[in-house]
Amino acid sequence: MPDPAFVDKLNEQIGYEFGASQQYVANAVYYDNETLPRLAAFFYAQAIEERNHAMMMVQYLMDADAEVVIPGIEAPRSGFGDIVEPVVVALEQEKRVSGQINALAAVAREHSDYSSEQFMQWFIKEQIEEVASMSDLLRVVERSRDNPMFAEDFLAREQPGDAGEDATAPTAAGGAL
Ligand SMILES: [Fe+2]
Ligand SMILES: [Fe+2]
Repeated sequence: MPDPAFVDKLNEQIGYEFGASQQYVANAVYYDNETLPRLAAFFYAQAIEERNHAMMMVQYLMDADAEVVIPGIEAPRSGFGDIVEPVVVALEQEKRVSGQINALAAVAREHSDYSSEQFMQWFIKEQIEEVASMSDLLRVVERSRDNPMFAEDFLAREQPGDAGEDATAPTAAGGAL
C-alpha cells in the first residue's frame, strides 16, 4: 500500500491534472476562434496529454489498492487579450505543476514509500520537457504578436510537444487517448 499521505496528495494532483487539461481546452478554443489552427491543435493535444496524466495517477492508485477520489476543479482562465497570454498562463501552470510533482516525490521519500517515489520519476522527466517546450513556445508567440502566422508556421515545422510514443509512460486507466 502506498503511504496515506502520498495517496491524499496524489488524489489532489489528479484534480490539478484535470485542471491543466481544462485550461488547455480554453487556450485551444481561444486560438480556434482566432483562426489560428496550429496553435489550437497544439493545445487540444496538450489537453489530452494532461487528461492522460490524471488517468495514469488513477491507474496507479487502483493498482495499489488505494482509494481514488476524483476531485472537483476550478474553472480555467479564458477571455485572453492577445495571442501571448494563453502561453504565459500555460507556462505558469507547467512550472506550478513541476513544484507539485516534486513535492509528491518528496512526500513518498519522506515516508519511505519507494514505489510511489519511483512512480513519480516519469512525471519529473515529463515536467522538464513540458516547461522547456512551453518556454520555447512563449518566445515564439512573443515574436509573433504582430504576425501570428509566424507562430503558425513554426508549429507546422517543429511540431513541439509531439515526442511520439513513450514506452516508459505509466498506464492510463481506461487506456491513453
Ligand atoms: Fe501534467
Ligand atoms: Fe503539463
